[in-house]
Amino acid sequence: MAEQNRKILFSRERIAAEIKRIGQEISHDYGDEEIMLVGVLKGSFLFIADLIREIETPSVIDFVRLASYGSGTQTSGIIEFRKELEMPIHDRHVIIVEDIIDSGYTLECLYNKLLLQEPRSLKICTLIDKRARREVEIEADYIGISMEDGFIIGYGLDHDEKYRNLPDIYLVESA
Ligand code: IMP
Ligand code: MG
Repeated sequence: MAEQNRKILFSRERIAAEIKRIGQEISHDYGDEEIMLVGVLKGSFLFIADLIREIETPSVIDFVRLASYGSGTQTSGIIEFRKELEMPIHDRHVIIVEDIIDSGYTLECLYNKLLLQEPRSLKICTLIDKRARREVEIEADYIGISMEDGFIIGYGLDHDEKYRNLPDIYLVESA
């Protein structure tokens, strides 16, 4: 991807400020009751690392790895679990931490699966809420930044596994 085909949409400063705000919201909502953050790999790895340091509530962390079949910039709606949780979530306050919600299929699938294990509560936190292409009714409880449409990369978000290391989030302009 040529550099002229991307431009900064959300700066590292904006991202840091929104994560600080979410961390405060979560700390306020849960107080001293222990929470478990469930990061959805790979895209959320930077977000969850920064978020957990902004949370004052006692927190434990675990990860799942999901992949939706299909390539390119469109999800297929078929979700594959490539890594399961390692810790039991029964009776815990659980927050799913996602990089981005697009169609909503990935999250709906994970949410329903975790519900079966009877957590004490189950909430959703996403860095980016992409609203234009939502196909299932799912709303995050904690949202970093909302946007309408467009493909973005950086700060954990990839295109064909690349660009996750960019410190800012870029909008990819289709040439
Ligand atoms: P959904 O199932 O359509 O909500 O897709 C969610 C997953 O698709 C996210 O966890 C991302 O991995 C990926 N995704 C969706 N939109 C983008 C984007 O704009 N950039 C990079 N990855 C994206
Ligand atoms: Mg991805």
